[in-house]
Amino acid sequence: MMKIIVTGGAGFIGGNFVHYMIKKYPDYQIICLDKLTYAGNLETLESVMDNPHFTFVKGDIADREFVYGLFEKEKPDIIVNFAAESHVDRSITDPGIFLQTNVIGTGVLLDACRIYGIERYHQVSTDEVYGDLPLSRPDLFFTEATPLHTSSPYSASKASADLLVLAYHRTFGLPVTISRCSNNYGPYHFPEKLIPLMIANCLNDKPLPVYGKGENVRDWLYVEDHCAAIDLIIHNGKVGEVYNIGGHNERTNLQVVETIIDALGKSRDLIKYVTDRPGHDMRYAIDPTKIHDELGWEPKTKFDDGIKKTIQWYLDNKEWWERIISGEYQNYYDKMYSNR
Ligand code: NAD
Ligand code: TYD
Repeated sequence: MMKIIVTGGAGFIGGNFVHYMIKKYPDYQIICLDKLTYAGNLETLESVMDNPHFTFVKGDIADREFVYGLFEKEKPDIIVNFAAESHVDRSITDPGIFLQTNVIGTGVLLDACRIYGIERYHQVSTDEVYGDLPLSRPDLFFTEATPLHTSSPYSASKASADLLVLAYHRTFGLPVTISRCSNNYGPYHFPEKLIPLMIANCLNDKPLPVYGKGENVRDWLYVEDHCAAIDLIIHNGKVGEVYNIGGHNERTNLQVVETIIDALGKSRDLIKYVTDRPGHDMRYAIDPTKIHDELGWEPKTKFDDGIKKTIQWYLDNKEWWERIISGEYQNYYDKMYSNR
């Protein structure tokens, strides 16, 4: 029996991970610690709320007193840290909260692990810490040895957190692992991100805002494949190691948007090219050789299947995302996209 604290479990990937773990390990005790920021949504966890093996705790990973109190009470075996400010565009308009949650929050969790003792601290990081690759070199991929070279306040905060995690391993011997994954997509994805935003706008016949020329490339991974990789790393991964996660599903943003338009039978005239994101990374592409060779991980879902499943999920769960886009999100959307 393991007791795992999953931070950020009311968000997109953390929520999927909670569901994945409860299904796969019905004997484990899963505690979700989440601040419920704009991106956290208890409806994502509705179906597990009454499960006796699941507990939800509202709190901030950067609140030292609160975090220490939780560790003292629960004495967890494993921490999986998903909690973060996660949207690049928001990090450009308001970097401060990214430093507070992503860097200070990670530091507080690491201190708690050091003081109370744990079997494993796992940091959920991102391929964005490596910066970007040029479109002219499709032969290049991020490996775990690629130098950190960040572009946005978001990626800089995630890279800082990674360095702290590795420092706590070297200096204090904390048993840590880090995973750096490419862009995820799937159920419960907050509609500010490319894929759910385009699905929601398509369904509402609203313009589809493509930044720049739409030629930037992302390496898309179905969220369940990410969850499976983290599961393998926390159980079998080597302490002190970084694992890249990605499945060679590169697409330009325009290809992704056109796939969604076509699947929903809408017109490509909905596409609206808008001013580019400052510092916009051109291409992300992961080399997953290490996690494949060491842990036997392989992605199960190809992009063409995953995007169909995802679109179907948004069609079947309109109340989940319609509630989100009808609230405070409207202000965000107007600020970000009107006059762009
Ligand atoms: P998300 O924004 O959907 O969810 C983040 C969750 O963290 C929310 O539930 C939010 O309430 C919670 N949170 C924020 N600040 C908190 C705080 N101070 N204390 C406690 N909880 C807090 O993000 P996501 O897309 O699910 O990403 C999860 C993690 O995975 C992040 O660390 C992100 O950097 C990383 N990641 C994301 C992707 C991706 O494509 N989305 C890819 C690679 C890595
Ligand atoms: P996003 O989902 O924000 O993820 P990230 O920036 O972390 O990769 O964006 C994915 C890509 O889509 C990125 O190149 C920016 C682009 N994009 C748009 O063209 N329009 C949009 O409205 C959004 C949100 C993103």
